Amino acid sequence: MNPRHFISLLDLSGDEFRRLINRAIVLRNNRDPNYQPLKGQVLAMIFEKSSTRTRISFESGMSHFGGSALFLSPRDTQLGRGEPLQDSARVISSMVDCIMLRTDKHETVTTFAQYSSVPVINGLTDLQHPCQLLADMQTYFEHRGDIQGKTVTWIGDGNNMCHSYIHAAMVLDFNLNIACPEGYMPLQDIVDAAGERVRFFDTPVAAAQNSDLVVTDVWASMGQEEEQKQREIAFKDYQVNADVMKVANSDALFMHCLPAHRGEEVSADVIDGSQSVIFDEAENRLHAQKALLEFLLCNKSR
Ligand code: CP
Ligand code: NVA
Repeated sequence: MNPRHFISLLDLSGDEFRRLINRAIVLRNNRDPNYQPLKGQVLAMIFEKSSTRTRISFESGMSHFGGSALFLSPRDTQLGRGEPLQDSARVISSMVDCIMLRTDKHETVTTFAQYSSVPVINGLTDLQHPCQLLADMQTYFEHRGDIQGKTVTWIGDGNNMCHSYIHAAMVLDFNLNIACPEGYMPLQDIVDAAGERVRFFDTPVAAAQNSDLVVTDVWASMGQEEEQKQREIAFKDYQVNADVMKVANSDALFMHCLPAHRGEEVSADVIDGSQSVIFDEAENRLHAQKALLEFLLCNKSR
């Protein structure tokens, strides 16, 4: 039987997504050191790019559940010397119980999944960051309840995080307002699939009107460092600051997947202010991914 992978949020139904969130909330509030459903199991973590939250949350999560995790950078495996993905996926999956990948190209993860005999998790690609959305949505549910029918505003780059917000809007049924500079829009096919729940605005203030959640991300993602200066110019009017938060609902939350650049995509008073829930959001990577590992490896909440 083919294993169940987690490559995209579209791999989940709305019901499954909500059950994962509820399970993550339970895991956050009731840590039982004797609960070790993954005792003896191993997660391989393949990182082509840097990580603080993704690495530590998966590694700690496996350890909490009685299992272990292997950190593999391109320097550590033959992948870095060009061993074919197909062969690597078959070999690695014959020795571990689950594989998490953070790669530049999305196709690397989909190819790996095609040849892996164990579940494959997308830990960020150029196209999507679905694990982050599990944590973001858990954080929203914890603070404000179900997000169905609410309005979320995405400001800044139409990047991997923006694409996963579009997917979350589809699966959990919320409205998504987007303000991106010209030339930095999300991919059209991803937008088209979401239908009328996604709307575009010319300015951050226009997009954030009456929003329940305002989200942004760095202007230059990993691998785009050389575009930093050019992007600072393109994005200069796309900062989430007090003027933007003022037009959102008074109980609106602010989120950012981190790492952040204060003074660029978000002002310090917003990211460090009372509406910001960035540290719950970061911590929830641990709880949400523990729920995901249980879901994929123990058939829990499926
Ligand atoms: N948000 C996120 O994925 O953080 P890391 O790059 O530190 O893993
Ligand atoms: N968009 C960012 C997210 C980092 C967690 C990047 O891809 O670098």
